[in-house]
Amino acid sequence: MRAVTHDALLSALRDAVGERHCLTDAALRASYETDWTRRFTGPAIAVVRPGSTDEVAAVLRECTAAGVGVVPQGGNTGLVGGSVPRDGEVVLSLLRLSDVGGLDADAGEVTVGAGATLAAVQSAARRTGWDVGVDLGARDSATIGGMIATNAGGVNVLRHGPMRRQLLGFEAVLADGTVLRRMPGMPKDNTGYDLGGLLAGSEGTLAVITAAHLRLVPQLARRAVAVAGFASALSAVTVAARARRELGSILALELFTDDGMELVLRHARIGAPFAERMPFYLLLEAGSDEDDPTDDLATLLEDVGAGAAAAIANDDAGRHRLWQLRERHTEAVNAEGVPHKLDVSVPLARYAEMVDRAPQAVAAVDSAARTIVYGHVGDGNVHVNVLGPAPEDEAVDDAVLGLVLELGGSVSAEHGIGVAKVDWLVRDRGGAAVAAMRAIKRAWDPAGILNPGVLFARDS
Ligand code: FAD
Ligand code: MLT
Ligand code: ZN
Repeated sequence: MRAVTHDALLSALRDAVGERHCLTDAALRASYETDWTRRFTGPAIAVVRPGSTDEVAAVLRECTAAGVGVVPQGGNTGLVGGSVPRDGEVVLSLLRLSDVGGLDADAGEVTVGAGATLAAVQSAARRTGWDVGVDLGARDSATIGGMIATNAGGVNVLRHGPMRRQLLGFEAVLADGTVLRRMPGMPKDNTGYDLGGLLAGSEGTLAVITAAHLRLVPQLARRAVAVAGFASALSAVTVAARARRELGSILALELFTDDGMELVLRHARIGAPFAERMPFYLLLEAGSDEDDPTDDLATLLEDVGAGAAAAIANDDAGRHRLWQLRERHTEAVNAEGVPHKLDVSVPLARYAEMVDRAPQAVAAVDSAARTIVYGHVGDGNVHVNVLGPAPEDEAVDDAVLGLVLELGGSVSAEHGIGVAKVDWLVRDRGGAAVAAMRAIKRAWDPAGILNPGVLFARDS
């Protein structure tokens, strides 16, 4: 590593990406320095916005030479603090690599730049009868690169799997500027290690993803959404399990509580789906290319006695209205304060117990905290949101993550480890697995400049 002053590095970065794409002014850097939740924030020495893979490689070469950390950033919608600087790194924004091109309508595949938003790729796919297998509420800002880096899940994992499963090919740049390219990639491709699969979920610690080739899924002509109320978490989970078993057309199974719905109704200024209020709600979405799934959903809800506490819709506006009740939880919680967001998964058999015990675990360490629970019940994924504790106070995080391990779950289901959960990686995976992960990190990024402090603690 050569000794390089910050001034020399900044000048090299300006040469690499052009003066106007190297932001050093504090006001211009600000939106890149704080995460979506406002819990995580830190200073960057600069934000660089490369416009090509070659420019990404040049930035990484300069930062490696200077020994300065790099934080890759897409839409900055990540929820574990991995997308923002901690301590004077360079933020490398991929937003200018936003090409959506090369859609093969026969194969159902598309090549996109890492900075393309999910919404942009969805609309290109839908114009040709295809769709993206992963969908999530941050679709207008979340980028394909960020979604691969976090192995994003979302609402359709039970049908199509997470982002890793959509990835057929990739282009990425190592810390030393070497470009790895496997494009377009094949649906069947067992030639050596699956490097793209490794990048999925690597959270910007192994390489900077610059482009991806994705498989698409058929767009479904007929969809129906239902929301039903339940007296207990267990009864909602039992109905979700039955829906999954009996309805081949199920696309999404989501759980939320009356506390959460109350927040959403107030924040989004929308009405309740039906007059009767219940402690727990299940949202079910079914989709098919042929038969309208409305009757299947209605029959299931009738069978389980959902009665008056149920609403169903199959037109665009009605489905959107019901989806808002679940999808707008994130912003409604954020509007109340800076949340501690604990995204975890547990075996389905322990799901209801997790939903019931999480608020108790929080109350045991912070009686003033407010806990809002929702999640993707079809995948065993629970989102525990806690309002009240200061951002740096980790007592409630520890209480919830401790409960997850007791129930045999995973401390990160779909958001990643980021900086929020670095202390829990070893506790969840064990020393041998984390040593194997660190060996991979050393091999790909020997100088440790890619997202320092994310996934692994800095000092160990
Ligand atoms: P960023 O936030 O910019 O970055 C996330 C991580 O990826 C960081 O560690 C960053 O360093 C790294 N990274 C970003 N781009 C690259 C790249 N090109 N190369 C290498 N590393 C990179 N997540 C879910 O899984 N399911 C959901 O249902 C879901 N719903 C959400 C709803 C809302 C309203 C919000 C705000 C967030 C939600 N999220 C969800 C979280 C978030 O949208 C995802 O984690 C998403 O994948 C992040 O994409 P991004 O482009 O914003 O990445
Ligand atoms: C969701 O499922 O709504 C997202 O993962 C975001 C969140 O956890 O709030
Ligand atoms: Zn989620």
